[in-house]
Amino acid sequence: MPDPLSTLATRLASARHVVAITGAGVSAESNIPTYRDKMEGLWASFDFQKLATPEAFAADPETVSRWYDFRRTKCLDAQPNPGHIALARLERELTSRSLRFTLLTQNVDRLHHRAGSTNPIELHGNIIHWRCTKTNTRYPDLPVPIPRHPMPSPAGGLLRPDVVWFGETLSEAAVLAAYEACEHCDLFLSIGTSAVVYPAAGFIQIARKAGATTAEINRDPTPISDAVDFSLQGNSGDILPKLVEAAFDEALRR
Ligand code: OAD
Repeated sequence: MPDPLSTLATRLASARHVVAITGAGVSAESNIPTYRDKMEGLWASFDFQKLATPEAFAADPETVSRWYDFRRTKCLDAQPNPGHIALARLERELTSRSLRFTLLTQNVDRLHHRAGSTNPIELHGNIIHWRCTKTNTRYPDLPVPIPRHPMPSPAGGLLRPDVVWFGETLSEAAVLAAYEACEHCDLFLSIGTSAVVYPAAGFIQIARKAGATTAEINRDPTPISDAVDFSLQGNSGDILPKLVEAAFDEALRR
């Protein structure tokens, strides 16, 4: 009997529109901690959920700015891992055959861009660019580290990371693009996410309703593990390169 990875690779090889959603687990092998890992070093006594809010920034902009700058520096020091690189290859393989690939990510680290993915939909924004609290002007080229906390903006506001904080609304364009993709895909991959934060957690249901094959790649079981067609347990940096390789070997054999 073929193993689940080979069977999923066969489905991948014949898919016409693949949607993948990634979460913090995909960047864990680049040494970026996941959200539900305990915070490290100086920040060990802080609670991420309390720092990642507009209220926290209003009450203590210096601490929130310093914390995000610490994470920004870590993201810029990190390198894409084989999981990111395999997803960029998957995009190239599909688009070169005039097939469709949509990458949705909850990650703010931009490692998918740096691995070669061309247009990931960043549902939670990104931590590399910061923006003015008054005008929303984006500043993509700030120094590393950012020299002042909080950093004043030229318009008299403050600079804040261009991420979506708890209690804030996701970009409507990003969410609509994600829904459209999920409604029209025939294979949906959920990778390295605990699959608990909406709306991302609902995308798989939309894909399933559309008749897509659903698969999860995660180091640990999650709330969706029993509901997907394929649940592959392990590190995404190990599984994704094997899956993409097997799919495109398969394609060559057809
Ligand atoms: P989580 O920290 O909730 O979950 C990370 C998932 O990755 C867990 O299910 C781990 O088992 C899995 N994992 C860890 N290492 C892995 C590896 N090497 N390979 C595969 N899987 C691995 O992160 P997210 O699901 O991304 O929201 O969290 C979603 C959102 O919740 C985040 O974007 C953030 C957070 O609250 C906001 O900031 C708005």
